[in-house]
Amino acid sequence: MLQIKKLYKSFNIGTDFENNIFRNFEIEFEDNTSTAIIGSNGCGKSTLMNIIAGSLIPDEGSIKIEGTDVSKFKEETRAKYIGRVHQNPSMGVSPSLTILENMALADKKNENFSLRKLIRKKE
Ligand SMILES: Nc1ncnc2c1ncn2[C@@H]1O[C@H](COP(=O)(O)OP(=O)(O)OP(=O)(O)O)[C@@H](O)[C@H]1O
Ligand SMILES: [Mg+2]
Repeated sequence: MLQIKKLYKSFNIGTDFENNIFRNFEIEFEDNTSTAIIGSNGCGKSTLMNIIAGSLIPDEGSIKIEGTDVSKFKEETRAKYIGRVHQNPSMGVSPSLTILENMALADKKNENFSLRKLIRKKE
């Protein structure tokens, strides 16, 4: 399970452009479920993904993955706990692979690869 508790994130604090994206935001994602995050332009979807992955540091709040608090882990350390597939091919998506293959690569990046199949039946 992925749990986000008491999340706060603002940009440009103390300026005319102060933007409080998350104020005490909480959400839980159960294992083996899919969740779509939807919302208007600029509502904070990418910011949430960046906070979960560790590319952005929240002002306050905790992010727990399977009970481990990863909030203070750097992005590269956090990568052990979470796989991410970007929308933008320049961020590491392979255009010659299918969506499923790209997601399987992100899912298995901590595993040793050999010539075994990338996609197993459960995927
Ligand atoms: N590094 C930053 N510095 C200042 N403001 C930022 C920064 N990153 C995002 N923002 C602002 O935070 C808000 C949320 O941006 P975010 O990119 O998370 O929105 P989004 O929901 O992903 O939008 P879109 O649908 O356009 O992808 C926007 O107003 C954006 O301008
Ligand atoms: Mg976005």
